[in-house]
Amino acid sequence: MRVFLTGATGFVGSAIIPELINAGHQVLGLTRSDAGARFLIASGAEVHRGNLEDPESLRSGAAQSDGVIHCAFDHSAFGSDFSKFAEVCEKDRRAIEALGDVLRGSDRPLVITSGTGMGNAVPGQPATEDHFDPNHPHPRIVSELAGASMAEQGVNVSVMRLPQVHDTVKQGLITYAVQVARDKRVSAYIDEGLNRWPAAHVLDVAHLYRLALEKHQAKHEAGSRYNAVAEEGISMREIAEVIGRGLNVPVVSLSQDEAQAHFGWLAMFAGSDMPASSAQTRQRLGWHPTGPGLIADLEQMRWM
Ligand SMILES: NC(=O)c1ccc[n+]([C@@H]2O[C@H](COP(=O)([O-])OP(=O)(O)OC[C@H]3O[C@@H](n4cnc5c(N)ncnc54)[C@H](OP(=O)(O)O)[C@@H]3O)[C@@H](O)[C@H]2O)c1
Repeated sequence: MRVFLTGATGFVGSAIIPELINAGHQVLGLTRSDAGARFLIASGAEVHRGNLEDPESLRSGAAQSDGVIHCAFDHSAFGSDFSKFAEVCEKDRRAIEALGDVLRGSDRPLVITSGTGMGNAVPGQPATEDHFDPNHPHPRIVSELAGASMAEQGVNVSVMRLPQVHDTVKQGLITYAVQVARDKRVSAYIDEGLNRWPAAHVLDVAHLYRLALEKHQAKHEAGSRYNAVAEEGISMREIAEVIGRGLNVPVVSLSQDEAQAHFGWLAMFAGSDMPASSAQTRQRLGWHPTGPGLIADLEQMRWM
């Protein structure tokens, strides 16, 4: 397939490029910058210049493809306090609609991206792929609502819900927790730190995107949701302890009240219990993540 990949220069997208090319696909990668274009060429992809804010650039990329993986997301526009998160999610909705516009009426697959938190329904229970709440309070739900609307209009869309995606350099929101611990010279968890975050290694995630793309190319199954989860839930205490060891700083328990001052915007996530299952995903796509695990990657990180 010739695959239009948005976010091709990002953490997840740049791992998807070799995964697709090694499986015999061609990649047309979206980027806004010259540096991004150089990276794509060096990675063996073709370059498509464009911007999430320019829907025509997304339509023309999708029009040249046999399928689309949408990983671009404007994290840099969040603001330092996450205040623009809802705005950035709205931008994602418009991007998904532009991509879907072109694919409507065809079997060409569109894989969009969301978070596993969208499937958490019952406190303490792992998020599942089949749980979809259109009124979910998380702003990212608009990405899934756009996907659901496209599915109703006949687009062969599926949703990849991501946990904390990691290697030895980046680990999703945990990268920010490391930064906070570095700045404050203390690594913290809230209360007993028993709340859990799900995780997967970036190469396992890249592989799963390919499996989803290929499955949906073979069969039009609009509206499927997948959880790219290798580890169902790692406790925040365990994460704080490995960060403390890495930075050689004390590890402490904070109360909910103290958490805001310590974590800043990250406080809204730091205390959340968000375990997630991938049982349906593994069974439907034959996905067998091989790791390494989150703690192993954190242990291998260069801390200084
Ligand atoms: N990493 C995680 O742990 C994690 C967890 C949950 C969900 N996710 C989701 O997974 C997806 C990929 O995340 P990531 O970690 O790979 O992100 P990332 O490393 O921040 O990369 C973002 C990508 O989006 C592109 N982008 C940003 N703003 C753009 C714009 N205005 N127009 C065009 N392209 C734009 C960037 O391309 P250029 O700068 O080259 O243009 C870059 O390729 C996102 O939807 C993210 O929210 C990630």
